[in-house]
Amino acid sequence: MRIAVIGAGVMGSGIAQVLAQAGNEVHCTDLENEVIDKAIAGVADGRYGFERAVSRGKIERADADAALARLTFSTNFEEAVSDAELIVECVPERLALKVKVFRDLDRLAPDDAILASNSSGFPLAALAAATDRPGNVIIWHWASPPVVMKFAEIVVTEETHTDVIERVTALASACGKNPVVVKDHSMAWGYVANRVYAAMIKEASQVVSEGVASQEDVNRLMVDCFGWPVGPFAMIKGAQTGWKD
Ligand SMILES: NC(=O)c1ccc[n+]([C@@H]2O[C@H](COP(=O)([O-])OP(=O)(O)OC[C@H]3O[C@@H](n4cnc5c(N)ncnc54)[C@H](O)[C@@H]3O)[C@@H](O)[C@H]2O)c1
Repeated sequence: MRIAVIGAGVMGSGIAQVLAQAGNEVHCTDLENEVIDKAIAGVADGRYGFERAVSRGKIERADADAALARLTFSTNFEEAVSDAELIVECVPERLALKVKVFRDLDRLAPDDAILASNSSGFPLAALAAATDRPGNVIIWHWASPPVVMKFAEIVVTEETHTDVIERVTALASACGKNPVVVKDHSMAWGYVANRVYAAMIKEASQVVSEGVASQEDVNRLMVDCFGWPVGPFAMIKGAQTGWKD
């Protein structure tokens, strides 16, 4: 499949890497040359990049080279989307920005292209309404770091075309993820995973603000009690930095 990824930041660069490794031709685009340079370096040689994956025996050198050859980074939005079959939008979590990007995508991408968003929680209906192809718009919510996490929360409305859902879930599976299809809900930010996560963070912050325990203590308790990989405050930091520290 020919795929464009919009935004080469924490999520977009990793998502582009996973999609290329799964055999797709991927063009990842950003506004900033500096971001592009960082993304190229991260994919090639970063903590979750191909070089480390090869040295740890997670991927053969020839497969890594082939995946890298399928991956293009540029600042040319129009060229990236002009012949894409699927576009995965990964710009910052601001609704007005995402709506603008979806308007541009609707204008510039092929009429039958699927427009997916990696939004963390904005209603699918709001993005679909920005286009003349609401049935081809879908949320494909990834977790950080995309190379590692199996998470694939696929959000749909009654309008989403069945073949669009099938193609996106099949692609998520081909990327080694575990797709779960859930319903759009315009009254609450966060779909399923982030709604539950936000409730947990709220309570963890409340415990700290009451002086009952420090952030470090809450982290330790949650890891030891529930077997989480890290505690709630370490999760916030990891999500912001892409777990690169
Ligand atoms: N960071 C996480 O843990 C995480 C997890 C799941 C989902 N998300 C979601 O993924 C999305 C991206 O988050 P991120 O952490 O990668 O943000 P980020 O700030 O690291 O990257 C976003 C990139 O988009 C670029 N951009 C902005 N407008 C653009 C445009 N018109 N065309 C091309 N590029 C453009 C920016 O220059 C920036 O480099 C957000 O919606 C966020 O909520 C983030």
